[in-house]
Amino acid sequence: MKLNQYQKLFLGLLLIASVVTAESLFPHDEQVKIIDGEEYVQTPFGLMLRECVQNVPSGTHIQQSDDDDGSIFLTNDEKNFGKKLERNEKCIKANPEKQLRESIKFDGYIDLVGWSIPDNIKLSKFESYYHVPNTPITKNDQYIYYFIASQNNDNSGTGHSIIQPVLIYTLDGWYFQSWNCCPDGQAFNSEAVKNITPHDQVFGSLEVKNQKITIISENKFGKQSLLTVDANGRNFDWIAVALEVYHTTVCTDYPTGKMTFSQMNVTLADGTQPVPIWDDPQYSECTGQVEVLDPKTITISHNIRF
Ligand SMILES: *[C@@H]1O[C@H](CO)[C@@H](O)[C@H](O)[C@H]1NC(C)=O
Repeated sequence: MKLNQYQKLFLGLLLIASVVTAESLFPHDEQVKIIDGEEYVQTPFGLMLRECVQNVPSGTHIQQSDDDDGSIFLTNDEKNFGKKLERNEKCIKANPEKQLRESIKFDGYIDLVGWSIPDNIKLSKFESYYHVPNTPITKNDQYIYYFIASQNNDNSGTGHSIIQPVLIYTLDGWYFQSWNCCPDGQAFNSEAVKNITPHDQVFGSLEVKNQKITIISENKFGKQSLLTVDANGRNFDWIAVALEVYHTTVCTDYPTGKMTFSQMNVTLADGTQPVPIWDDPQYSECTGQVEVLDPKTITISHNIRF
């Protein structure tokens, strides 16, 4: 058997692998929902089986097996972390990729603009500042997810994938976390960055370089939640700016005021920085508004009266 560098590193790490304390990791026990005897957790892709959602230390690299056998190697040299995930039929079967672009009213992607990158050009980098809006007035187990994202909507490489730095508001308050869904049916997120308060400016970026994707979610103190993933031939040909919500029950479950994505830069593989031609915004309840103020600035707001 020929081992590549990650597999070798992984085997080395196995000998010294330390267990990352469960406490710091997502999901917390109180966030687990039992449905028909199975444990589920909320993710930006809807409810997923808990066993298919992997929280990893920041800086972890995700690599699908070269043998295409559905196993995945997770390696993190710096954090002394290594893990092999075996193929999991349940995850592969329930892979929620089909849902990714469905707009289910009031659950899922509700406020959104997207842009399909012109044919035959690949995304190299998409970055933005996120200005954190006000904390919702009510707490009702709502999940609020703001993000920039990219997908290979052409299904190139080893399957459909979404990459996103996600600013999250839940029972735990605000946090910022890098996500990738769903190689072999698994959703990955790196340890969340906390210390985020309304009106902060935080930084999110996605980069595809030399067949490696880097997803960065960084708070104003420079602390990062970072994931890297093998691109495996995926051609990221669609970008979006979105708010996704689950379980909002009243309008005050939404943050009040504007979430502003600013100084957005899109860079393509040929080095050009195109001006995205954003689709018509989709938006929804509670005086939801998505406004493209200029090609580099987009706001998403709720509960602002006109
Ligand atoms: C976008 O590019 C400009 C010009 O290089 C830079 O000043 C700005 O910080 C970049 N935006 C982000 C989010 O890094």
